[in-house]
Amino acid sequence: MQLLLAHGPNLNLLGERRPEVYGTTTLADIEADVAGVANARGAAVLCFQSNHEGALIDALHSYRRVVDGVVLNAGAWTHTSVALRDAIEAVQLPVVEVHLSNTHRREAFRHRSLIAGVCIGQVTGLGREGYRVATNLLLDYLEGRP
Ligand code: DQA
Repeated sequence: MQLLLAHGPNLNLLGERRPEVYGTTTLADIEADVAGVANARGAAVLCFQSNHEGALIDALHSYRRVVDGVVLNAGAWTHTSVALRDAIEAVQLPVVEVHLSNTHRREAFRHRSLIAGVCIGQVTGLGREGYRVATNLLLDYLEGRP
């Protein structure tokens, strides 16, 4: 089993970006956490981050036959990108949407996710731990567990 851990814009700055909202965890910490959970269950993880919307869409297209599922924090594109939603739908991979912060407790424009309807689930507001939850969820799904 192989998973893709994908991040959208500004998430390369985790650790220094608004630590009161996102914590001090870095992207490298999160990538190591997800790899740890996946490896312990016999799965491998590929990591990708971009600040360019088309690059994330291209990555989903290219990885569609390489990975079995995706853990995705699309950052602000969650709330804006019909193109990303269509890409998730098009590649027919199971995707778990993750947010470090509880987007429902923040500004109104963060309450709506354009991608939620094409993801198998959403984990929001659990901080770093949310990625572990999302990875286990995705692997359970891929292994056919309820
Ligand atoms: C985020 C929430 C988004 O609203 C925001 O644009 C981000 C990070 C989160 O992880 O909490 O960049 O996806």
